[in-house]
Amino acid sequence: MKIVLLTVLVLIFAGSWPATSAAQDTVRTHSRTPSFTSNGTESCLSCHSGEKMRAIAASPHGDAQIRGSPATAYGCESCHGPGSIHVSRAHGGRGFPPLTQFGRGKEASPREEQLHACLSCHAQEGMGDSQVKYIGSAHDRRTINCSSCHTLHAETDPVSDRETQTATCSRCHRRHLADHPRFEEKSIDFDALSCSTCHDVHVPAKLEE
Ligand code: HEC
Ligand code: HEC
Ligand code: HEC
Ligand code: HEC
Ligand code: HEC
Ligand code: HEC
Repeated sequence: MKIVLLTVLVLIFAGSWPATSAAQDTVRTHSRTPSFTSNGTESCLSCHSGEKMRAIAASPHGDAQIRGSPATAYGCESCHGPGSIHVSRAHGGRGFPPLTQFGRGKEASPREEQLHACLSCHAQEGMGDSQVKYIGSAHDRRTINCSSCHTLHAETDPVSDRETQTATCSRCHRRHLADHPRFEEKSIDFDALSCSTCHDVHVPAKLEE
């Protein structure tokens, strides 16, 4: 694993050196720039065939009728990045550079890369109600990512469904269920009301007096 990390670091630094650098030429012989695959999603599903992988087809992201959805763009690779090296037989899922991996674990991609994967679409004008202004929000400032709240490999995302949303928020805000500022204890049924009735977590806090 150490060797792997080193290789990645070398590649990153090499990438920022002038094109004439001899070191870069050396590195280049070991790496290629991945491109989007021609039959994307289909080839991804041939290895990643579990139920969760297929569930995304039934979500808005898998709906080719929705303008601008991943299904109308590069499918799985719209979020995970170009996968030509990853899918190639010689690499069998272990090619470099790795695809975008969401989450907070050791294997996860850098935060900027994760945010960009979502905001490359969701920060665009023309996304209507799906345009989000996340950067600078309270959660962004605490380095919380989209995928800390959103589950995308599911037919319905539990945090977007108001009936199931509280469970996600209370993973980090358990105290607020029983003891929420300004409200008397147990005076609100948060499950019925849901947190996003009052809070828009994508923007800097803006609450009515
Ligand atoms: C030949 C089989 C194969 C194909 C085709 C394949 N994968 Fe993978 N994928 C794997 C394996 C094996 C791993 C685990 C690699 C590891 O743990 O080192 C993996 C890991 C991943 C990961 C975790 C991050 C990473 O890079 O390790 C993501 C995300 C992923 N694949 C997405 C995709 C997408 C998107 C496609 C289609 C473009 C795809 N895979 C096609 C075999 C495949
Ligand atoms: C809209 C963005 C998006 C699309 C499209 C998408 N994914 Fe994902 N993928 C994610 C996110 C976010 C996660 C983290 C878990 C979650 O949210 O469910 C993830 C997790 C994964 C993982 C687990 C990697 C790990 O952490 O070990 C694999 C493998 C994967 N996706 C493959 C695919 C394949 C194959 C497709 C196409 C069928 C696909 N993804 C389409 C966003 C996406
Ligand atoms: C290729 C463009 C694209 C990418 C990349 C993308 N989305 Fe989307 N997303 C869409 C479109 C289009 C919709 C559907 C909007 C509509 O219904 O009108 C959508 C819908 C959603 C919804 C609402 C759907 C629901 O289930 O309630 C959420 C939440 C969402 N995206 C989060 C994400 C996150 C998080 C990522 C990154 C992991 C991401 N998206 C990446 C285009 C994209
Ligand atoms: C702190 C949790 C949290 C984080 C972090 C978060 N979201 Fe959301 N998101 C929500 C909730 C809750 C809703 C449902 C809002 C509602 O029902 O009114 C939502 C809804 C959405 C929607 C549907 C349109 C809408 O506004 O109702 C999109 C698209 C979306 N989020 C994208 C993103 C993207 C992209 C990121 C990262 C840049 C992100 N979200 C980060 C909690 C979060
Ligand atoms: C991964 C952990 C995590 C999740 C999940 C999460 N939050 Fe937070 N939230 C935080 C942190 C950390 C802060 C900043 C410190 C604090 O105020 O507790 C914060 C702050 C807030 C604030 C205060 C904002 C401000 O400007 O002061 C609100 C409101 C909030 N969260 C609502 C929500 C709602 C609603 C959800 C579910 C849709 C949610 N959070 C999900 C971690 C999380
Ligand atoms: C009926 C409207 C309403 C609902 C529903 C609601 N909140 Fe709040 N929330 C508020 C108001 C108003 C404040 C501002 C309190 C203050 O600043 O005195 C607030 C403040 C907060 C804060 C920041 C203050 C602090 O204690 O750090 C967090 C975090 C928070 N809410 C989380 C949640 C979560 C999680 C849920 C869902 C379980 C939720 N809220 C549901 C109205 C609401």
